[in-house]
Amino acid sequence: MTRLECRGVVAGHGRVVAVRDVNLSAEAGSVLAILGPNGAGKTTLLETIAGLLPRLGGEVLIEGTPLPSGRPVTANRAGVVLVPDSRALFTTLTVRENLTLARRRGGPDDDAVADLFPGLVARWNLAAGALSGGEQQMLAVARALVQKPRVLLVDEMSMGLAPRVVESLLPVVRRIADTADALVVLVEQHVHLALEVADHAIVMIHGEVAVAGPAAELKDAPDRLEAAYLGVQLPPARAG
Ligand SMILES: Nc1ncnc2c1ncn2[C@@H]1O[C@H](COP(=O)(O)OP(=O)(O)OP(=O)(O)O)[C@@H](O)[C@H]1O
Ligand SMILES: [Mg+2]
Repeated sequence: MTRLECRGVVAGHGRVVAVRDVNLSAEAGSVLAILGPNGAGKTTLLETIAGLLPRLGGEVLIEGTPLPSGRPVTANRAGVVLVPDSRALFTTLTVRENLTLARRRGGPDDDAVADLFPGLVARWNLAAGALSGGEQQMLAVARALVQKPRVLLVDEMSMGLAPRVVESLLPVVRRIADTADALVVLVEQHVHLALEVADHAIVMIHGEVAVAGPAAELKDAPDRLEAAYLGVQLPPARAG
């Protein structure tokens, strides 16, 4: 069973520390939502796990094996795949070509992708740049999926998309965790939609984990979430 662990991860940009002592652990088959306001360090954390940024401290482990710091190719070989908020598609290539270029041996074929993203089927031979925002996001996730991820990191899938489109995409992410034997780590601004599909969630504030727990519990504790976003310290919840 694939498990991702962050132990005391410190990261940032040059000398700007943006992630401080982050600890988390989650396993394949589950969805972990990373929430938090703008500038909280969510993207920095994902990029650090993916090896795109060097760590300033701490460890990232996949199945107990530490990943070297700042080595994206090694992280990718270990099964870490990042869908960046920019989507980073080859816009002049077709949908099929984008998938073919990314596909790893044994990764889901076009039929399997079509099954998960029926909205892409009629677009197969169109240039990725000609797709709508929602379709481009489907393709970005599909392109990650054909790499057979063990840890799929999705940054702000909903960037620039209507809530209706986000609502249709998030269940697909859930299905990927359920069927592809992958852990999905989802950074999301739509807190309530994210908590609907996630198993666990953390709220990051100023680079630190301010709140962590089962998504169902956080969904039922809007005051805790709100306080975290506002940076207010609440007394611990009383048992019973
Ligand atoms: N390339 C960079 N160079 C220097 N500082 C950066 C860089 N990228 C981000 N930062 C800083 O790191 C901190 C965390 O940024 P990050 O992008 O990780 O936040 P975020 O939680 O993803 O925010 P958002 O919700 O707006 O995407 C911010 O203070 C930001 O200004
Ligand atoms: Mg971000």
